[in-house]
Amino acid sequence: MTTGAEALRHIQQYRQTVGAGLKLGIEHEVGVALYEFILEQRIKTVVETGIAHGFSSWYFLEALSQTGGRLYSIEPHVREVLVVPGKYQHLWQVNKAVSPAGLISLLKKLGQVDLFWHDSDHTYAGQFGEYAVASHHARFIGSHDINRTGAYIAFKDLYGWRDRLAGTGKWGVLEKAVS
Ligand SMILES: C[S@@+](CC[C@H](N)C(=O)[O-])C[C@H]1O[C@@H](n2cnc3c(N)ncnc32)[C@H](O)[C@@H]1O
Repeated sequence: MTTGAEALRHIQQYRQTVGAGLKLGIEHEVGVALYEFILEQRIKTVVETGIAHGFSSWYFLEALSQTGGRLYSIEPHVREVLVVPGKYQHLWQVNKAVSPAGLISLLKKLGQVDLFWHDSDHTYAGQFGEYAVASHHARFIGSHDINRTGAYIAFKDLYGWRDRLAGTGKWGVLEKAVS
């Protein structure tokens, strides 16, 4: 049986070799931090926007296969090359849709989810809109490319969420502040 550490090493090696030409994925250290967070919090439901070639999806699925969870991803342009191993297909629902409309309808169906992860439209409106929609459904909201606009900081202030995992300034995970 593959351990978590071996699985993460495998992703890293894949990225440095076979997947070296595939751009757009979250950094390996971000994937590892999210993987560990999912295990630590025993997270079962993750919703993400932006699959590209599936690197974030792969880290999520590695962790969710251990917590007995499921991943729901939203992406309008599903690529021919997806890196996610076939053994995780049963844990993964790929929604060919555009956010925010696709996100709103998916979250309406799912109700409450544990973690929402943004990595799609990195405009201010795209980011703020997704965080705001997710705030009604998610225990944790995470995001890549938070340094692209002021949306992450504005959302925290306006909606009363606080840092749960503070990344390098490029990514982070928030939780609702208890008043
Ligand atoms: C940076 S890539 C995602 C990388 C991926 N999370 C990973 O770690 O491998 C951004 C993706 O978001 C998708 N995207 C852009 N706008 C979107 C939208 N409004 N809704 C959903 N996906 C969108 C793009 O097609 C692209 O594949």
